[in-house]
Amino acid sequence: MKILLTGANGMLGSAITEQLSKTNHTLLATGKGELRHNHLIFNEKSNYASLDITDQVRAKHLFDSFKPDAIIHSAAMTQVDDCELNKDQCYSINTASTMSLISLAKEVNAAFHFISTDFVFSGDDGPYVESDQIGPVNYYGETKELAEQYLIQSGLSWSIIRTVLLYGKTDQIKRSNFIYWVRDSLVESKPIKVVNDQIRTPTYIPDLAKGIIKAVEGQAKGIYHISGDEIMTPYQMAIEVARFLKLDEQLITPVDATTFTQPGKRPQRTGFYIKKAIDELGYAPTAFKTALAEIFS
Ligand SMILES: NC(=O)c1ccc[n+]([C@@H]2O[C@H](COP(=O)([O-])OP(=O)(O)OC[C@H]3O[C@@H](n4cnc5c(N)ncnc54)[C@H](OP(=O)(O)O)[C@@H]3O)[C@@H](O)[C@H]2O)c1
Repeated sequence: MKILLTGANGMLGSAITEQLSKTNHTLLATGKGELRHNHLIFNEKSNYASLDITDQVRAKHLFDSFKPDAIIHSAAMTQVDDCELNKDQCYSINTASTMSLISLAKEVNAAFHFISTDFVFSGDDGPYVESDQIGPVNYYGETKELAEQYLIQSGLSWSIIRTVLLYGKTDQIKRSNFIYWVRDSLVESKPIKVVNDQIRTPTYIPDLAKGIIKAVEGQAKGIYHISGDEIMTPYQMAIEVARFLKLDEQLITPVDATTFTQPGKRPQRTGFYIKKAIDELGYAPTAFKTALAEIFS
């Protein structure tokens, strides 16, 4: 299968690239600017090309020349507060560019697999199943919701894969994520305040990449929730990191989200029930403690 990926320089995109480049699929991994991750190995069946997804001319050129069978659309403006403060840019990247890519996919009759987020939900009553009512509480979530709706009505073969709070080994791509922030703060003996009134089902990045590839290979259609299966607050995650690394958990103080003033509101209770992904995609999440052992080994 010929697969075009967007956002290959990102946390998830680089993991998908790493896994897909070891398969027999023909991959065109694209990202904004140059490829920044030297550990990714390309071969005769996998290549990298720069693609700023707001550049429709460049996107059309790549679609016409590569003629993908499937698109995995992972690129996005992902920082919730940046989205709230720069709404035009957030709309342009997350909604308008996704619409353009969907139109291009139609021209070459490619399946479209869109990576979306738990932040399309209000957070009043999570964890959520795929059929639950959406209703975002911040602009990032709104732009993703609009893109989802456009895709659903596109007439294409589509899937929407929503996920939750990604974590994993991202030092190779010089990116931090929540667990590195906890580790680094504790190693430096810095006290940290961590939210204990939000729930999530944190997602181990390699698991998600695997699940997405299964969805693409199985030509999955419809909405899928892919995340971990353990319901945790960020505070509980931080405590697990401290215990695993034998660092001082007394440095971690549980707080309510109201302690922080952030431009973008966070939904309080999200997280997913993932039975559909397990049953239909053979998705198998790694336990949080096992993932920590892999990350810090
Ligand atoms: N991280 C989470 O906890 C989380 C949770 C739920 C859903 N998701 C979704 O999962 C997907 C992957 O997110 P991630 O965590 O891997 O985020 P990420 O590391 O921020 O990756 C997003 C990628 O999109 C790229 N991008 C931004 N604007 C672009 C543009 N105009 N053209 C081309 N590429 C552009 C970024 O490029 P640069 O690297 O050059 O900036 C980045 O590499 C996103 O769709 C996100 O909404 C993430």
